Amino acid sequence: MIIAIDGPSGVGKGTLAKSLATHYNLALLDTGLLYRAVGFICLTNGLDPANEDQAFDAAQKDILEFLKDSRLRTEDVGQAASKASVHAKVRAHLLDFQRDFAKHPPKGYDGAILDGRDIGTHVLPDADIKFYLVATPDVRAERRFQELKGKDVATTYLQVLEDIKERDHRDRTRDVNPLRPAENAIILDTTEYSIEEVIKKSILAIEKQR
Ligand code: DC
Repeated sequence: MIIAIDGPSGVGKGTLAKSLATHYNLALLDTGLLYRAVGFICLTNGLDPANEDQAFDAAQKDILEFLKDSRLRTEDVGQAASKASVHAKVRAHLLDFQRDFAKHPPKGYDGAILDGRDIGTHVLPDADIKFYLVATPDVRAERRFQELKGKDVATTYLQVLEDIKERDHRDRTRDVNPLRPAENAIILDTTEYSIEEVIKKSILAIEKQR
């Protein structure tokens, strides 16, 4: 089984993806980490993620070695990832790895689950099931703010909200594979429902389609 999950930042994609991966024994790929690794390499090597050639140079480095690095999780890296992800060359370079992961998941798994921005629309248009998560920017910012506070990161709710709005705008309006729901995606609103309810709803939807 192959599952695609898309949605904006802070909407709960990662939590849903982890739960479904465990429930169905699927290999999980958080595709945002690939773009974050590119953003991180830009920031640490004096490259400008907004410049296509420089971002492409970063994408050609060994990005897989960074995927477990906790430094990828910061807001600065998220912004750099968002800037690097607008470029066609960068996106094309990361595409094969994502498709290959879904087609040939590591041994022992019964399929794959990928979460990101363009999984249902572009990376895996033939996924068995597609989810698109939505929530208001305020709710996403509040959740992210609480998470950062828990990690003692110095920031304010308004700063987090501004970052989320800026990233939403860039991710939705870029020319190449912008964030939007696939036509056959199941839309789940995590403003209205708790993440536990969203997990339950998505398992019900999967069972219905099997
Ligand atoms: O999901 P995330 O916040 O870790 O993603 C970081 C950035 O990477 C996001 O702002 C846009 C980009 N991204 C993308 O363009 N396509 C994906 N499939 C995943 C992430």
